[in-house]
Amino acid sequence: MNTLRRTTIPPLPLEMNVVEIAAPGGPEQLRPGKRPVPKRGEGEVLIRVAAAGVNRPDVMQRQGRYPPPPGASDLPGLEVAGEIVEIGAEISGLALGDKVTALLPGGGYAEYAVASAVLCLPVPDGLSMVEAAGIPETYFTVWTNLFERGGCKAGDTVLIHGGTSGIGTTAIQLAHAWGARVYATAGSTEKVKACERLGAVRGINYKTEDFVEVIKQETGGKGVNIVLDMVAGSYAERNIDSTALEGRIVVISLLGGSRAEINIGKILMKRLTLTGSTLRSRTVEQKAAVAAGVLQNVWPILRAGRARPVIHATFPLAQASEAHSLMESSNHIGKIVLTV
Ligand SMILES: NC(=O)c1ccc[n+]([C@@H]2O[C@H](COP(=O)([O-])OP(=O)(O)OC[C@H]3O[C@@H](n4cnc5c(N)ncnc54)[C@H](OP(=O)(O)O)[C@@H]3O)[C@@H](O)[C@H]2O)c1
Repeated sequence: MNTLRRTTIPPLPLEMNVVEIAAPGGPEQLRPGKRPVPKRGEGEVLIRVAAAGVNRPDVMQRQGRYPPPPGASDLPGLEVAGEIVEIGAEISGLALGDKVTALLPGGGYAEYAVASAVLCLPVPDGLSMVEAAGIPETYFTVWTNLFERGGCKAGDTVLIHGGTSGIGTTAIQLAHAWGARVYATAGSTEKVKACERLGAVRGINYKTEDFVEVIKQETGGKGVNIVLDMVAGSYAERNIDSTALEGRIVVISLLGGSRAEINIGKILMKRLTLTGSTLRSRTVEQKAAVAAGVLQNVWPILRAGRARPVIHATFPLAQASEAHSLMESSNHIGKIVLTV
């Protein structure tokens, strides 16, 4: 009976350790602090955090360039893995003590975090909590952009920029698992090799090679069906030149700048689709639809071991500033995760 269901694991502390942004600026602005354990609202669960993923958007938030959406925690952290320690009787499909990985609008750099129940997914068998913490932000983003918007399917050719980023390592593995032929750009020989180990047929060192020329050679002059782009700026026109007839270009970030001059005529002549999206700004309902798609389509791939989060390094929560310094050095391959 619902009324007898336990909804809290006692005892919960009143206060918790967190990492907060003291002021907009460098990694040193990430400071350990204390906050009250957050209160869950209707449709939400409280998670005791075991690990929290670090993402480039956290870096932008710390720099003051990516404010949290209204109502979200001001603490950074868009994804965690942990145990449900408080749940409402109104929530079905989850239970106290469940090990979950959750997409958050913020608040992950903490010992406890509140998550919408519909954005919690079970930790896939065989994955550690550290690996699970590295899933939501990148897997949701790749699913909704490369597959839902980009329409990636078996037999497609795909160009993924930033191949060794958290997003890139996920996109390469999922597109490869789908049966697509994957090309990926990265900034060093070591990173190019990593892309190829993850499933790219050809990694492209964008510092020594022209990706437009490589794609032309590799595809017999046709171009790829889909480009997943996090650079924009000077890549905008070159992406168009790399894309085949009826191709799709999906922009997910602006690491190279938000402005570009492009020849729109090429979009018409090639019948291209130029699109893009962000995840964080979507409503809970919209994110829940992405979560359902990920659970149905991507979880079987994770369970079968055909894709796995690539963990570059872990840091204790209190050393979040070192994690950010590493991310900003761009020396990492895959995910950086905080352990709690
Ligand atoms: N749209 C969305 O909903 C959404 C969601 C999550 C993340 N994102 C975005 O996706 C991007 C990747 O996120 P992430 O957490 O996976 O990042 P990440 O692991 O820090 O990787 C970013 C990588 O991009 C490469 N890169 C290429 N051009 C760059 C440039 N001009 N400046 C800096 N880095 C450049 C770097 O590797 P090289 O050595 O190869 O240059 C760098 O390691 C970020 O821009 C993030 O904001 C978008």
